[in-house]
Amino acid sequence: MSEVQPSESVEQLREAAVSALNSADSSEHLESWRVEFLGRKGRLTALLRGLGSLEIEERKIVGAAANLLRADLDSFYEERERQAKSSNAVVGSLDVTLPGRKPAVGGLHPSTQMIREITQAFNEMGFQTIEGPEIELEKYNFDMLNIPAGHPARDQWDTIWVDSEKYDDVLLRTHTSPMQARVMENNTPPIRVVVPGKCYRYESTDSTHEWHFNQVEGLAVDTGITFADLKGTLYEFARRIFGQSRKVRFRCDYFPFVEPGVDMSIDWNGRWIEILGAGMVHPQVLENSGYDSSKYTGFAFGMGPERISMLRNEITDIRHFFSNDLRFLTQF
Ligand code: PHE
Repeated sequence: MSEVQPSESVEQLREAAVSALNSADSSEHLESWRVEFLGRKGRLTALLRGLGSLEIEERKIVGAAANLLRADLDSFYEERERQAKSSNAVVGSLDVTLPGRKPAVGGLHPSTQMIREITQAFNEMGFQTIEGPEIELEKYNFDMLNIPAGHPARDQWDTIWVDSEKYDDVLLRTHTSPMQARVMENNTPPIRVVVPGKCYRYESTDSTHEWHFNQVEGLAVDTGITFADLKGTLYEFARRIFGQSRKVRFRCDYFPFVEPGVDMSIDWNGRWIEILGAGMVHPQVLENSGYDSSKYTGFAFGMGPERISMLRNEITDIRHFFSNDLRFLTQF
């Protein structure tokens, strides 16, 4: 049998050393690895000693390979040692007796939670949830809703106009009511929808006013819908959100797109707090959307979920909803 070639031994030694180093998982293992492979009486030294018995040419080749191996093993070893030290440092500073901490998990925004609760209450009464554009045409935000240019009611909705070279009739919707017109235009009765979404007004802010906020719009159109349907639906809504024994009050109010128009207040610790505007869809609005107002009637309502959340959660400043302060948001 022929002798093991020394050049083979360099490769074998490399393989053995590398795989042993990879499985060395403690500083004791690392030290015994160093002694075995790089020590004065170790395997690499033994290999180098054997070089003397080789032919001069072969000695040069194998010697060079062995020196390269030493340099490699030295640096592999240092690297492993460094790794072991840094992971030891972490293990050393870990106090395993510390009690566990709850991981921070995300949650739904308080506005979203309120919107979902409101839309769900109406969903259970047969209303479908839909959404509409926040960038809206003047036509839907005002004209179709019986608020023609020059109508004093436009002052109620301080408008943020979109600056565009191409269009001069684009705005950020000031309420979700334009969806009344859009829904009627694209559907035939019976219609029952709720429309949550963002609205914008050019307004200075204070604890009860924001320049952006959410609304939830509602619309029901069919034959034979009466004011009693409006009252019954909104009563039921108030009971679902504020509790079974909640008292509500309707008063006359004016919105150009409803007739008659009302606002609804709820009894809050003996005070009446207004929570929404509503009314029977104005015949002109039905006609604007192509409906025969002698055949169809309907009711509409609009409310601000942030205001309702403020009432229920005793929040004193509407601006908290949009300031992204975790001290506020994590309370929900
Ligand atoms: N759009 C009205 C507002 O923003 C609310 C409203 C909606 C009133 C529907 C009546 C009917 O104040």
